[in-house]
Amino acid sequence: MFALTGIGHLVTNDETVGQGRLGVLHDAAVVADDAGNISWVGKQTDLANHFDGKPTDVGGRAVIPGFVDSHTHLVFAGDRALEFESRMQGKPYAAGGIKTTMAATRAASDDALAANVARLASEALASGTTTLEVKSGYGLSVHDEARSLVAANTATTETTFLGAHVVPPDTNADDYVALVQGEMLQACKGHAKWIDVFCDRGAFDVDQARAILQSGVAAGLGTRIHANQLQQGGGVQLGVDLGVASCDHCTHLSQLDIEALASASATTVATLLPTAELCTRSPFPDARKLIDLGVTVALASDCNPGSSYTSSMPLVIALAVINMGMTCDEAVWAATAGGAQALRRNDVGNLRVGSRADMVVLDAQSHIHLAYRPGVQQVSAVIRGAKTVVGTI
Ligand code: NIG
Ligand code: FE
Repeated sequence: MFALTGIGHLVTNDETVGQGRLGVLHDAAVVADDAGNISWVGKQTDLANHFDGKPTDVGGRAVIPGFVDSHTHLVFAGDRALEFESRMQGKPYAAGGIKTTMAATRAASDDALAANVARLASEALASGTTTLEVKSGYGLSVHDEARSLVAANTATTETTFLGAHVVPPDTNADDYVALVQGEMLQACKGHAKWIDVFCDRGAFDVDQARAILQSGVAAGLGTRIHANQLQQGGGVQLGVDLGVASCDHCTHLSQLDIEALASASATTVATLLPTAELCTRSPFPDARKLIDLGVTVALASDCNPGSSYTSSMPLVIALAVINMGMTCDEAVWAATAGGAQALRRNDVGNLRVGSRADMVVLDAQSHIHLAYRPGVQQVSAVIRGAKTVVGTI
């Protein structure tokens, strides 16, 4: 058993125990069992009825659920600092940069790929991410996609087969789509929970994306889609039609796209990735409008070496609040419970009884400070499965 006390401001994401959608409790305590799950949440004054050991006092600091980063590309080698530099000098972002990372990834050993995943997963953990989705997508051959997923599995069970990231060089697109649906899917499906397609300019069109996602479903995988990042197109509507768990990016949306996402809000999440807009100097999506029209919004980092080389969910939250019209409550919900919904999980992203005891102790009075103090390290400690894995309390 493990208990935290002295929590000045506790975000539970459980409206039945605290105020508002974040279920905020003041002067609170949390108890976890030996299996690493939450066994009690409530007012500190009631703790004695639920815990008889020595609790750990956080001295009035805020505690929130660990972040659920539902969209990352951590399996790669090399970096693209020079591409970033030339972009900052005016060159536009394009899907073709993926091929640079493909070459480096194919040349890297299995150990090097796993080490890169471990490095970035630990960087993410240090900023409060306790659940991560990790995609393949820089191997783009049967062998390299399969071993990319083996590397992804060293860090998480939320692994995604993204063989359809781009068509590799010197390959016919139809042949490649057939390969992804056939031999590559067979080699990868045992290592992946999800299948994803980059449906956009310079990547795959709607018909190709539909065929690939349907093959993934037939192979037993859940579906997600990279849609409407570079331009408006049919990706979001395809995702909604197929009932994907999440349409990701949503940078360029039509009114019909937004209405489609709103109509599917119980099943399909719009996962917004503001650090991708930041690092590609793209317009931020209007999250305010999406939420006001009833879309379920998640926030994620899109951590990858091309368009968004950051794992910082606090930065994502700050951008979402400052540049995308989200309230502080909405952004923290989207980075925790929203990410969990995008992964169709309800055991993470909240601090309800029975959920994983994954928590971030902030060096701040409330979750508002995540957006209020952008770029400042405010994570005092990270607790995963009721164990302190970063910092000290
Ligand atoms: O999510 N959109 C496609 N994939 C990545 C970018 C990959 C890259 O540029 O290396 C993304 O932004
Ligand atoms: Fe991505």
